[in-house]
Amino acid sequence: MKLHIRKTNNTEFYKTEYLTRETFWNLYNPGCTEHLMLHNFRQSNAYVEQLDLVVLHESKIIGHIISTKAKVINDGNIEHEILHVGPFSIDFMFQNKSIGTQLLNYSIEEAKKIGFNGMILFGTPGYYHRFGFKNAKEYKITTKEGVNFEPFMALELKKNGLANVQGKFFVDKSAKVNKDQLCKFEKRFPAKEKSKPQIKIHI
Ligand SMILES: CC(C)(COP(=O)(O)OP(=O)(O)OC[C@H]1O[C@@H](n2cnc3c(N)ncnc32)[C@H](O)[C@@H]1OP(=O)(O)O)[C@@H](O)C(=O)NCCC(=O)NCCS
Repeated sequence: MKLHIRKTNNTEFYKTEYLTRETFWNLYNPGCTEHLMLHNFRQSNAYVEQLDLVVLHESKIIGHIISTKAKVINDGNIEHEILHVGPFSIDFMFQNKSIGTQLLNYSIEEAKKIGFNGMILFGTPGYYHRFGFKNAKEYKITTKEGVNFEPFMALELKKNGLANVQGKFFVDKSAKVNKDQLCKFEKRFPAKEKSKPQIKIHI
């Protein structure tokens, strides 16, 4: 299958938010918030244009990934910049065809070129280990609450990139989705029924 991966144009912001909503709807929660998170990231200082990527097949967007600037803060209040990956979506019709693998690998290479030290994500370990992501506790990075669990993973983007990056991880504040904002934002999209999530996250 011939694929084309490139930066997302701002004329494609709605399309990619739509795709994100379709992909995450009722997956981990009733409804979803990931499309609003994506929208908010794009208006924040955490936004990195080169890491807002789409994958196209026959000129149609079939997948999207974004990585944004986040922080790891240590006990001495020293901040280290790191990337946070997600939302990451492949259109249902195109899942399990290695497209996600190609898109994430491309995004990792772009992040390396820019010079970031590492990236963090919350995801299914079985999928992300193949890219080199490890439980973040191996790098002495915890969540902002100070805990670790398997789905909380980190990847070094250069040799020993995370050797001095230890502490608590904070996603950019724009990721925090407000109920009223979500309600208003939902009006831009076709109505959809909320139901019990398909995947239960075990932390
Ligand atoms: C997760 C996602 C981006 C992967 O993209 P994809 O193109 O379907 O994945 P690929 O085809 O590259 O990889 C397929 C492999 O990953 C596995 N896989 C796919 N989704 C998985 C998941 N959620 N958990 C564990 N493994 C998964 C498949 O079983 C397959 O394994 P195999 O290669 O051993 O057969 C895509 O399935 C998706 O959009 N899912 C819904 C949204 C989501 O969960 N996003 C990620 C949140 S962190």
